[in-house]
Amino acid sequence: MVGERTLAIIKPDAVKKSVIGDIIRRYEAAGLKPIAIRMTQLSKSAAEGFYAVHRQRPFFDSLTTFMSSGPVVILVLSGDDAIKRHRELMGATDPAKADPGTIRALHGTNIEFNAVHGSDSPETARFEIGYFFSDTELGVR
Ligand code: CMP
Repeated sequence: MVGERTLAIIKPDAVKKSVIGDIIRRYEAAGLKPIAIRMTQLSKSAAEGFYAVHRQRPFFDSLTTFMSSGPVVILVLSGDDAIKRHRELMGATDPAKADPGTIRALHGTNIEFNAVHGSDSPETARFEIGYFFSDTELGVR
């Protein structure tokens, strides 16, 4: 889809490793344009709301504790087929299974501390972008 939008989060593990710049450089080099960026620290309840679809999973508490453990960088990326292309750039959820050269293979630690998040469908992208950014912040582009 032309000019599709997706939500990316540079997770606390990647921020601690000082690879924010490397990750954003990879987005831009791939033609995924940041149209909104915010650095913040999520509360536990904000992380729980964001990951509400995973509420029943055994890793939910640990995941939301991790996601609220330190600063994150939240971005809206725009580009043709942004959702799919961003997922290819990230690699598989488990860094051990991610293709060489992908962000998770390079910067992830394990299936939970996996450096980055990306929306997995247009519906999820709409929810996730709206969770963090208002229409005013996204502007007319
Ligand atoms: P993300 O793409 O942000 O979406 C859900 C997150 O849950 C995922 O990345 C991982 O951080 C985490 N996750 C997924 N599967 C597992 C698992 N089996 N064990 C622990 N954490 C997981």
